[in-house]
Amino acid sequence: MTHGGVSSTGASKKQVTMTINGKPYRADEGEIFLGVALREKIAIPHLCYEPSLDPYGACRLCMVEVVKRGKREMTTSCTLQAAEGLEVVTDTPEIVKHRNILFELYLAEAPKSEVIKAMAARYGVTKTRFLKKLDTTDSLGNKCVLCGLCVRACNEIMGAGAIGFINRGPYTVVNTPYFEPTKDCYGCGACVKVCPTNAVEMEDVADTRVMKSWSATKVPLALCDCCGKYYAPKALAIATLARITPSLKEEIAALCPACRGKRIAREEILAGSGGAGNHG
Ligand code: SF4
Ligand code: FES
Repeated sequence: MTHGGVSSTGASKKQVTMTINGKPYRADEGEIFLGVALREKIAIPHLCYEPSLDPYGACRLCMVEVVKRGKREMTTSCTLQAAEGLEVVTDTPEIVKHRNILFELYLAEAPKSEVIKAMAARYGVTKTRFLKKLDTTDSLGNKCVLCGLCVRACNEIMGAGAIGFINRGPYTVVNTPYFEPTKDCYGCGACVKVCPTNAVEMEDVADTRVMKSWSATKVPLALCDCCGKYYAPKALAIATLARITPSLKEEIAALCPACRGKRIAREEILAGSGGAGNHG
């Protein structure tokens, strides 16, 4: 139940003690409560929590109760911060009731999502009383719960803004503007990675990455000069290269990461041994 907190600057963070379900736990002051709970193997269902993005509180599944002066207050654990003396309960009849309703809603919102089905079943919910949203033309395969993680990863991590929410209310979907292929997409796949329901699909076809869920946007891939394989979207490869030391650029410009690593390691070995063919 201990956690040694060291900040990115190397300075130790202030440690606090809080109570979860009646037991004491240590955490860094200000740490996201859900992160602490998950680290301590306390199960709290969640969909829109992604440590690399700021907490947002969209899915409402991660509700817990905070005890304040004898009274309990429900809050999202992904927006709650660790503090000295914080008292939290993660499983009460009210939380279970709230959670079960949400699971039913998500089963209706994303009826084809095996992830949602499995998560809901773990909490005893296998059916929904809500009307299932089934759309044969849905580019996200009826698996999207509108958590917004893909949109935020595209905007906040990649700065691309290639996708967003379209329409309103029950017709809301995520896609590219006007459902058309977009030049703003790098083809990085951050959206695929963060999607909690595996709704976003992409596929590499020869020299092109096809963002199947995003209006089949096509992104050219870069070819490795050494192994001859397509390894990353061209635009990303160029952006990465811009951050590499100029002296290395020419040497490794057209190589995939694996071949780059090998080339750099070989250069280092040669440099360490005094250069190629220099054996004394
Ligand atoms: S596609 Fe995935 S990440 Fe994007 S809003 Fe839907 S569920 Fe969330
Ligand atoms: S994980 Fe907390 S609201 Fe979604």
